[in-house]
Amino acid sequence: MTNTRDQDRVLIFDTTLRDGEQSPGATMTHDEKLEIAEMLDDMGVDIIEAGFPIASEGDFEAVRDIARQSKTSVICGLARANFKDIDRAWEAVQHAARPRIHTFIGTSPLHREITKLTQDEMVERIEATVTHARNLCDNVQWSPMDATRTEHDYLCRVVEIAIKCGATTINIPDTVGYTAPRESADLIAMLLDRVPGADEVVFATHCHNDLGMATANALAAVEAGARQIECTINGLGERAGNTALEEVVMALKVRNDIMPFATGIDTTRIMGISRKVAAVSGFAVQYNKAIVGKNAFAHESGIHQDGVLKNAETFEIMRPEDIGLTATNLVMGKHSGRAALRAKLKELGFDLGDNQLNDVFVRFKALADRKKEIYDDDLIALMRDSSADEGHGRLQVKFLRVICGTEAPQSADLTLTIDGVDHQVTAQGDGPVDATFNAVKALFPHNAHLQLYQVHAVTGGTDAQATVSVRMEEDGKIVTGQSSDTDTVVASAKAYVAALNRLLVRREKGKPDDTATAV
Ligand code: KIV
Ligand code: ZN
Repeated sequence: MTNTRDQDRVLIFDTTLRDGEQSPGATMTHDEKLEIAEMLDDMGVDIIEAGFPIASEGDFEAVRDIARQSKTSVICGLARANFKDIDRAWEAVQHAARPRIHTFIGTSPLHREITKLTQDEMVERIEATVTHARNLCDNVQWSPMDATRTEHDYLCRVVEIAIKCGATTINIPDTVGYTAPRESADLIAMLLDRVPGADEVVFATHCHNDLGMATANALAAVEAGARQIECTINGLGERAGNTALEEVVMALKVRNDIMPFATGIDTTRIMGISRKVAAVSGFAVQYNKAIVGKNAFAHESGIHQDGVLKNAETFEIMRPEDIGLTATNLVMGKHSGRAALRAKLKELGFDLGDNQLNDVFVRFKALADRKKEIYDDDLIALMRDSSADEGHGRLQVKFLRVICGTEAPQSADLTLTIDGVDHQVTAQGDGPVDATFNAVKALFPHNAHLQLYQVHAVTGGTDAQATVSVRMEEDGKIVTGQSSDTDTVVASAKAYVAALNRLLVRREKGKPDDTATAV
């Protein structure tokens, strides 16, 4: 094992709660954000970008409360290049032991056209806003958005002015995931070489994954001198997402021989937080995702299985334990008690308080009555079930019976509790799920558009649970609902109703400045 103590340190800046949460449908509740922030802090993330405080009251409160609970991590809030945004970001992060303001402006020709600022006017704006931020906070990060499509001379000019005005970190975003590894490295090297004062600040890399190169681009930037990587858990983020934290961290650990850089991350916490983020965002991790995918350590082929049994290193470049994957297949069942469930969930990365545990225990017992063996994946599905969080939602599925078979049409007999009052209807459709959704819509008319309906089996066997994800859109607001049940149609009904409940919450709360999130 390489001793990384004397190596150059690369700071890990996690933006799951800001750039990740901007991903359409990945909205998280206040408590979920606080829990994730605590896990990030505990795993050794250097800087947590907790949100965009001006975007809404909810965003502001989340950043403020994350700042208040923070322990070691620097807590950062995002702000556009105006005083109002910056003041609001400071109001939220000032409660942290180690606060940071992150302010940005789009510097590429396309963005200058949108903001209708000339090059000189933009320089003045940067001067004023970075100075303002620095007067509030001594830790200021500045980003020229769309840096990878900004003219080099102009990029050098704006970076220089930001440094002169007191920025302590300069982040170079590849906002649209356009760059490639060699270009990513050359850009950082060019800035370090040409910009006066560049060696006095930390350069950061912020890559999006539109061409699938975010991890490679970030690592190339580090090799060229960047010392902060901006990333998200599971690569969550707008469009194709951001650089995945688990990928860059494990790449630096496993290939430390050729990339001799250290991070402060406790990698054994990776799997737990990956599951947590998947559960609360409703974005399941693809099976073959590097590091945290379900198949990342699974060996199906005979040759691989044989090799791994004889010597794991034949086909494994890292050990499952390194990322906190415990190789247990301890099966839980209806005789397992509360303490066993708590311990098992903790092992899977879900550290529950007593109330939460009570709720999950009831659902666990209900599942154990129907399913003989409860595997880890069943428990993860139970935790991911957003329909359960909606226990206090306005809509509840009380009763459902479907009639289906070779004769069309299929029909659903549904009782839905709406604001405490039961309503019943029988509706028809093309198949049992369509009939069920029609029944919900008959009882609770709405104009939300169903964007995604997805089913997957949680484990093998015909008594396996099905996890259903439903994504809906109304007036540009996107919500997801997820539910698991041994009955696919029941899971579908509950996921649909969970999404509607989330939509109702969003309708009530609104977002005073929705455009603010369109970064
Ligand atoms: O992708 C981007 O450019 C951003 C900035 C706000 C840093 O997220
Ligand atoms: Zn971004």
